[in-house]
Amino acid sequence: MAESAELILDGKSISLPVIEGTENEKAFDIGKLRDQTGYVTLDSGYKNTGATKSAITFLDGEEGILRYRGYPIEQLAERSNFLEVAYLLIYGSLPTQTELDKFAHQITTHTLVHEDVRKIFDGFPSGAHPMGILSSLICSLTAFYPKSLDPNQSPEETNLNIIRLIAKISTIAAWSYKNSVGHPLNYPRNDLDYCSNFLYMMFAFPTEKYEINPVVVSALNKLLILHADHEQNCSTSTVRLVGSANASLYGSVSAGVNALWGPLHGGANQEVMEMLEAIQQDGGNTQKWVDKAKDKNDSFRLMGFGHRVYKNFDPRAKIIKKAADDVLKALGIDDPLLKIAQELEQAALTDQYFVERKLYPNVDFYSGIIYRAIGIPTEMFTVLFAMGRLPGWIAQWKEMRENKEPIGRPRQIYTGELERDYVGIDQR
Ligand code: MLT
Repeated sequence: MAESAELILDGKSISLPVIEGTENEKAFDIGKLRDQTGYVTLDSGYKNTGATKSAITFLDGEEGILRYRGYPIEQLAERSNFLEVAYLLIYGSLPTQTELDKFAHQITTHTLVHEDVRKIFDGFPSGAHPMGILSSLICSLTAFYPKSLDPNQSPEETNLNIIRLIAKISTIAAWSYKNSVGHPLNYPRNDLDYCSNFLYMMFAFPTEKYEINPVVVSALNKLLILHADHEQNCSTSTVRLVGSANASLYGSVSAGVNALWGPLHGGANQEVMEMLEAIQQDGGNTQKWVDKAKDKNDSFRLMGFGHRVYKNFDPRAKIIKKAADDVLKALGIDDPLLKIAQELEQAALTDQYFVERKLYPNVDFYSGIIYRAIGIPTEMFTVLFAMGRLPGWIAQWKEMRENKEPIGRPRQIYTGELERDYVGIDQR
């Protein structure tokens, strides 16, 4: 491997050190570029720019590889559960049974939120989008736990803030749904595991006994695991950038929730479901919509296809597609949207237009089918994505802080007006 890259600029040559990661990813370090040359690099969307070195998640977009702390996502989705994966991402290794039991118990005993949080809920109009409620209430935790604002807090305080956030996001998420449909809120139960408790808080109703369905619990664990981290995606980069200013964990994650809300990011799973529903309402003629997606004069585009990083397939989509089949069979659901989704996928995998453009199903394409099958309403899809991504956001924020990374402050190339003098309004 080359030790350095040589850059020749304006007749001068400078050497840029090359670094290589444990999976042979290579970069040249431009940390001193501007001091040495007066130049900065320009990389709109940072697609070619490494923001950090991280030991949390490895993905290979060409080979469709995704590993959390070295463990393949396929094995974790098949054999692990969400809290165990959260522990792995945050603390760096799989827990022993004792460690996992302690972690799960700590989370269980922190799922209750301060009664004053309900007053904040009451302030939202019933039509408020649950993602707006989620980001607001996560940030409100700084008011209930002001020690979380201290940038010099002890590791024990940081860990308590982590436990609180994982615990309370499930309650806040379920309550944001109940608030949106005008149902009475369900308080968390300490006799249920994390996913069962969330489903209980989401769907229990005073007039009927809520039965925990193990098929649904297993599907939810799998979905949350598959969304748990994805290296330096938009929302994680947001959490890191906000956290690099020594902002609190709650404030940093609240910002990440808002980034994830964007339709080009986590909001895509809601867009996919709305697209499938529109095709169904239009009569279910998928070929008509495939042709519209290919027509450059038509603004319609297929949602849930392609990915900024994966070049051939999204490994999570493969797992979710099988899980969708399993869940629908186990629950005896014949969802017409699944048939539409399968027809669209078939078109994307065989039609040269989509193959040439690498437009294959990504993680958002099938997740909506499962969410819908287990009763999650469309507006809550991105909230579930946020719940799943929370351990990743926490792990990345914690790594950035432990590595004492500097405040993020990108540069720019100015293209505006040259210097000019101010003139009074009567002279304009
Ligand atoms: C994610 O999981 O965050 C999405 O696939 C987006 C991305 O990684 O860029």
